[in-house]
Amino acid sequence: MLKKAREHFSSIDSTNTWAKRNATSLQRDAVTLVTADEQTAGRGRFSRKWISPPAQNIYASFCFFVEKRNLSQITSISQILAVAAAETLDACGFTVAFKWPNDLMLSGKKVAGILCETTSIEEALCVIAGIGINVNMQADVMQQIDRPVTSLYQESGIIQDRSKIELLLEKHFLLHLEQVLEFEQLRNIIEIYRQRILHRKGEQMRFHDGQVVQEGLFDSIAEDGSLNLRLASGDVKNFLAGELC
Ligand code: BTN
Repeated sequence: MLKKAREHFSSIDSTNTWAKRNATSLQRDAVTLVTADEQTAGRGRFSRKWISPPAQNIYASFCFFVEKRNLSQITSISQILAVAAAETLDACGFTVAFKWPNDLMLSGKKVAGILCETTSIEEALCVIAGIGINVNMQADVMQQIDRPVTSLYQESGIIQDRSKIELLLEKHFLLHLEQVLEFEQLRNIIEIYRQRILHRKGEQMRFHDGQVVQEGLFDSIAEDGSLNLRLASGDVKNFLAGELC
């Protein structure tokens, strides 16, 4: 079983940023879960802000170390966290689907996002897998976000128990992480990931790879969770990272 460690803050700039800053003092042989009630400088993908009001949502970063020569173990870490979060929300009565690579969608709107980062410490990499889940976020706060978002409260009309969700998330994530790190069971997790993907073969897509927008048709999710997109030329191109727009 993986060893666990815990850090909690009532307010912090960002749980991912805190973990990066403090990576050298984290326990090397444990998975540290860093959480906060509020983030004053929450970060999303592509340098976006992650709106993080106090005591409404989950802001969590799982931190652990892998040796640099075992990098392949963590290429799909965001998909592993996405699957763990989906199973957690299933247990709370919410069925989410994935917008590639790792947006969790509920009623067609984003309810959670994942930001995975690494920082190098000697011969090892500290992996920081951060997730924000909109749990009890109120409508007036969500109006500040320029994309369609929702929260569990918004969908159900019921205030949800954040600590229960956090505990379930930790349980599911550690279980899957252990399967991957110790038993090389990534295949099974990617299969679960595929079953929840929103996109259908042949669906028209616009894809931003960080530099240019490409258009194509959704083909499939590869064995490592990356995207296979059929371009106008007919060729299928594989993308490890990017965003659908
Ligand atoms: C995204 O969809 O753009 C990714 C959002 C990730 C947000 C989480 S909240 C906990 C952790 N700390 C951060 O600053 N960001 C991630």
